[in-house]
Amino acid sequence: MSDETIPNISTQKSQPSNDPATTRANRTETEVGSVFVSNYPAYSFWSEEDVPQVHRALTDPPRPDSTLGLYLHIPFCRKRCKFCYFRVYTDKNSQQIQTYLDALAREVEHYAQQPAVQDRPLHFIYFGGGTPSYISSRHLRALVTRLKDAMPWDRADEIAFECEPGTLTQAKLEAIRAIGVTRLSLGIENLDDEILRHNGRAHVSKEIYQVMPWIHALDFDQVNVDLIAGMVGETWPSWRQTVQKTIEFDPDSVTVYQMELPYNTVYSKDLLAGDGAPLALADWKTKRAWHAYAFEQLSAAGYVRSSAYTMKKTPDARFVYRDAVWTGQDMLGTGVASFSHLSGVHYQNAPNWDEYLAAIDRGDLPIHRAFATTREEQLTREMILQLKLGALDTAYFRTKFGVDIVAHFSTALSGLRNEGMLQFDMDSITLTDEGLMRVDQLLPDFYQTQYRNARYT
Ligand SMILES: C[S@@+](CC[C@H](N)C(=O)[O-])C[C@H]1O[C@@H](n2cnc3c(N)ncnc32)[C@H](O)[C@@H]1O
Ligand code: SF4
Repeated sequence: MSDETIPNISTQKSQPSNDPATTRANRTETEVGSVFVSNYPAYSFWSEEDVPQVHRALTDPPRPDSTLGLYLHIPFCRKRCKFCYFRVYTDKNSQQIQTYLDALAREVEHYAQQPAVQDRPLHFIYFGGGTPSYISSRHLRALVTRLKDAMPWDRADEIAFECEPGTLTQAKLEAIRAIGVTRLSLGIENLDDEILRHNGRAHVSKEIYQVMPWIHALDFDQVNVDLIAGMVGETWPSWRQTVQKTIEFDPDSVTVYQMELPYNTVYSKDLLAGDGAPLALADWKTKRAWHAYAFEQLSAAGYVRSSAYTMKKTPDARFVYRDAVWTGQDMLGTGVASFSHLSGVHYQNAPNWDEYLAAIDRGDLPIHRAFATTREEQLTREMILQLKLGALDTAYFRTKFGVDIVAHFSTALSGLRNEGMLQFDMDSITLTDEGLMRVDQLLPDFYQTQYRNARYT
């Protein structure tokens, strides 16, 4: 296959009853329904029935061994990217944004009164989206003043903030820096204007070149750049350019996602409707080759691996949010459709604007569905999420769960070793390069039977 040849995506609909995130298969084409695994058991198993367990967890004292983090969902964007599956709104005016941010602050104030939360220091604060950098500096400062009154965050190890390049001005970056942000993450995705435009991104490459010097001048502890390998229209030459220019920006870390096509994206809906031209979308093998190329180039430029998706410049730099989530620490996820984890209970907020605001207006927490995990489920969740780091330390699981994971998951581990995806001994489990590039597709091998071949969301 030449550099420029991209196979078209299959338009076959995968069955919602066995989504790729819960079903092991050797995939070739990028099919609708593919998704990055972010939790376990899959969200389709969470229900209203378990919501009382959340209220119990909130009124009980906290687990003594867990840190607490705060995630704030800012669901606004200039435009909906055609590949995006996040809960975002592109039609809200300044007054509606104000209403939402007031509700978000009230939600945090409500949490601050709960016995499981009261007086606990925040380990991290994560402004995610959507696009947190979409809101004005005035809105941001007012929100942060209320948040800090409710939950002191002076001792936080990390304050992370996601940005879309075209929403940034020098003044807004100064406001972001002034609220104490330590980790700025920039969604560059690609540096080819035609690819950006075709995929519905709001920004153009000129805006990226404009903001990078401002970001560097403000000296954030860590600057991360997100790229997507396999946007529609991507070719080897455009990808090489994107990777080389990204390295020239000299970020502290680079995160490379392989393009997924979850249900609910503009592209997926068009494909499922079956009308329109076929998409110039790479297959998984090509996306893995692009991902591997980016990692090789970053490695040659002095970066080291931080996870299956991220390379970092400073070996001891930490990503506090990721590590807290992947080790099962408590996290309050606030805002519409946000996910939380408290004392072993997963839960999700109301998934749409009206329901979320109505619950806050009533003075309630806007909890929509929940799942109270068993110890076994907590073990599996941590094991699969930490496998995305590329290597597991078996002693960690022996200490925390009293389980030898090599014996516990022996069937799955031996199978994956036979396929050349990983190696293991008594002390560690290490993915091969081949396994690392497709780790999400391997994870269902570790699921308990009842959670396999199921719907994901
Ligand atoms: C919330 S966005 C980051 C901030 C901002 N909204 C932006 O896009 O610049 C999180 C990241 O998810 C990634 N992403 C979104 N949809 C994706 C998809 N379908 N496949 C792979 N990565 C995706 C993009 O790299 C994006 O930067
Ligand atoms: S990828 Fe980012 S900018 Fe694009 S719609 Fe999703 S959240 Fe918004």
